[in-house]
Amino acid sequence: MFRVQSSILSNVPTPDSSRRGFHDRPSGLHCDDVPLAALAAAAGTPLYVYSAAAITDRVRAFREAFAGLPCAIHYALKANSNLAIVRLLKDLGCLVDANSIGEVEVALRAGYAPDAIVFSGVGKTPAELERAVGLGLRSINAESAGEVARIDRLARARGVRARVSLRVNPDIDALSHPHISTGLRLTKFGVPIADARQIARDAAGLAGISLAGLHVHIGSQMTSLEPICRAANALVDLAAALEADGVVVEHLDLGGGVGISYDGTPAPSPGEYADALRPIVGPSGRRLIVEPGRVLVGPAGALLTRVVDVKPQADERLFVVVDAGMTDLLRPALYGAFHRIVPVAAARRPEALCDLVGPLCETSDTLGAARRLPRPEVGDLLAVLDTGAYGFVMASTYNRRPLAAELLVTGDAWRVVRRRQTIDEMLAPEEAEPWPDC
Ligand code: LLP
Repeated sequence: MFRVQSSILSNVPTPDSSRRGFHDRPSGLHCDDVPLAALAAAAGTPLYVYSAAAITDRVRAFREAFAGLPCAIHYALKANSNLAIVRLLKDLGCLVDANSIGEVEVALRAGYAPDAIVFSGVGKTPAELERAVGLGLRSINAESAGEVARIDRLARARGVRARVSLRVNPDIDALSHPHISTGLRLTKFGVPIADARQIARDAAGLAGISLAGLHVHIGSQMTSLEPICRAANALVDLAAALEADGVVVEHLDLGGGVGISYDGTPAPSPGEYADALRPIVGPSGRRLIVEPGRVLVGPAGALLTRVVDVKPQADERLFVVVDAGMTDLLRPALYGAFHRIVPVAAARRPEALCDLVGPLCETSDTLGAARRLPRPEVGDLLAVLDTGAYGFVMASTYNRRPLAAELLVTGDAWRVVRRRQTIDEMLAPEEAEPWPDC
């Protein structure tokens, strides 16, 4: 049966009537005003392509949703920390949530001042804490009583007070994938809510600590707001209890976690998210911090890949082998995550049932299983959508595959914002210095 795809992206919501982000035109899929085929021809594949316009729209929508609340948006760098993307988010008014000193250094290089940065993360090393205390960050989000004590010692040795927020584990199920649910008692994150009041009170009494806030982050890719609201309520109650103890915290940091729609499952809009939080946090009078990552950049990126082989399976089903694999995009292998995969050029071909697989020696190296596509041919270009978050940042060089290139489109212009890694660059750290003569 011949079926012509009337629209390659028939189920992709194109923002208003404009042509911002990834959208379909008669000549093929575009990012803003640039044909994806031209980008792949110029920069090769696998290739991450990001739309500056889509990121801009998403940040604006988020900021507008929180208008009227004293709220700071600290973009979670872990979602996509390419320097050009971080600089764009800075220009758009976002502050930073960093999860390692590496990410703190990215933020500094992008031009952020230390007081624009909150530093989260389980297992901060002594060197990381030393640097964080020395910089004077907006907040170090402490994960345990032990970490609070270590920060206190480092700060006192420098004669400063470090601004610290205590990360609380509220024992709330994010109702997301278990690998990215972080708010249950059985996970490694934060201090148990039952202990938090005492730990916070003790922290506030330390000479090297200024207890700036309370922090919670219960998970990622949440499509229900109910768990986030429960976590917000828990934090508001804890702040009130502490105030009764004479300890006043400035801010409540609710972390990130708002999901996006990968497969058509409805996800909360920024407006719904902000409206859900407003009645909980608003009356507390406290400054709010949120740490969105995925929701700001996820749909603004696509991974371009070329078909390198097509192999028949039983029942007319095909293995479509592409030049991107789990080393470029780990989410399908790691979480069984779904990403739409679409042809870049509309093709008048019969449809086929396809397993889109990468080139690695792992059966889990499958980008998409059982997809109906116009029968792919070697050389075709495909786009893996919604890969702007947790895509390139989770890449590896397993099987000695060099890291992909990244490219940013702004209107009808584009530039490579990370060039493709060369084999020499991959191997340079292993090239031994000549052995000294003994
Ligand atoms: N704040 C903290 C403390 C976090 O740990 C995270 C994400 C965020 C904010 C941002 O969350 P978002 O708004 O992006 O959901 N690799 C996984 C996601 C891991 C998220 C880890 N923490 C994935 O590909 O789905």
